[in-house]
Amino acid sequence: MKKLKNWDNQTWLSSKNYINQFNKFLNKRVKFNKNTKILDIGCGRANIISNLEKKYKFKEKPIGLDIIENKGIKKNIIFKKIDGYNYLKRKNEKYDLILLKQTIHFFSPSTLKALLDIAKKRLKIEGKILIFSLKTTNNKIPCFKKMKQKLDSSLKRDEKLFKIIKKKLKRTNESYFHFDVRISKQKYLKMVKSRYISCLLDLKNNEILAGISELKSKYKYQIKFTDTLKCISYRK
Ligand SMILES: C[S@@+](CC[C@H](N)C(=O)[O-])C[C@H]1O[C@@H](n2cnc3c(N)ncnc32)[C@H](O)[C@@H]1O
Repeated sequence: MKKLKNWDNQTWLSSKNYINQFNKFLNKRVKFNKNTKILDIGCGRANIISNLEKKYKFKEKPIGLDIIENKGIKKNIIFKKIDGYNYLKRKNEKYDLILLKQTIHFFSPSTLKALLDIAKKRLKIEGKILIFSLKTTNNKIPCFKKMKQKLDSSLKRDEKLFKIIKKKLKRTNESYFHFDVRISKQKYLKMVKSRYISCLLDLKNNEILAGISELKSKYKYQIKFTDTLKCISYRK
């Protein structure tokens, strides 16, 4: 599989508005203060924890882990290029929040199980694990036919991963984060061309180009939809 490099590369997922709304959502579930210690597994360019750090000036900087070191990773956090499971296994530190946002689908079921087992042990008293993933039914991400097939099969797999998560974590709460996306067709087509989402990574170049023509005729100038994430929350 190709590497995911453009997910948060000047897209709505890295916009101020999105990050602010997302962090408001987080703040309702984790009462942030100067002492909050955060680990973000699969942090990408670390926009989320960087924004939190700016706001709360934590005593210990948030740690972001990713297997890819993209250009433009935020500098006010501690970034480590490492697999999330290996990091948790090696480092016996405890956190108030372990965040996994739109990352679980990169793990095999067995690694996810092992990761959750260790993550539970790495929580402080009343610490939380928050897992965010695309909503699996009636998902609104704009797709061309082939992209939709790939997305749907990935979402089916996610449902299996949700079952694993619930079994492992037992006492969980579920909620949804909604973000209204307004994006020009031109910008969205650029995102598709840059394979911004993992269901595009394995498509051939000619399939991407055909998909772009399909989207060109499907949408007018503006694309509007709601990006919805399921949030699974576990508290120690
Ligand atoms: C869809 S992006 C989400 C980025 C960020 N959490 C956000 O929502 O903006 C998923 C990220 O997880 C990373 N990733 C995949 N497998 C990983 C692993 N085993 N350990 C750490 N990060 C991983 C990918 O490289 C990618 O940057």
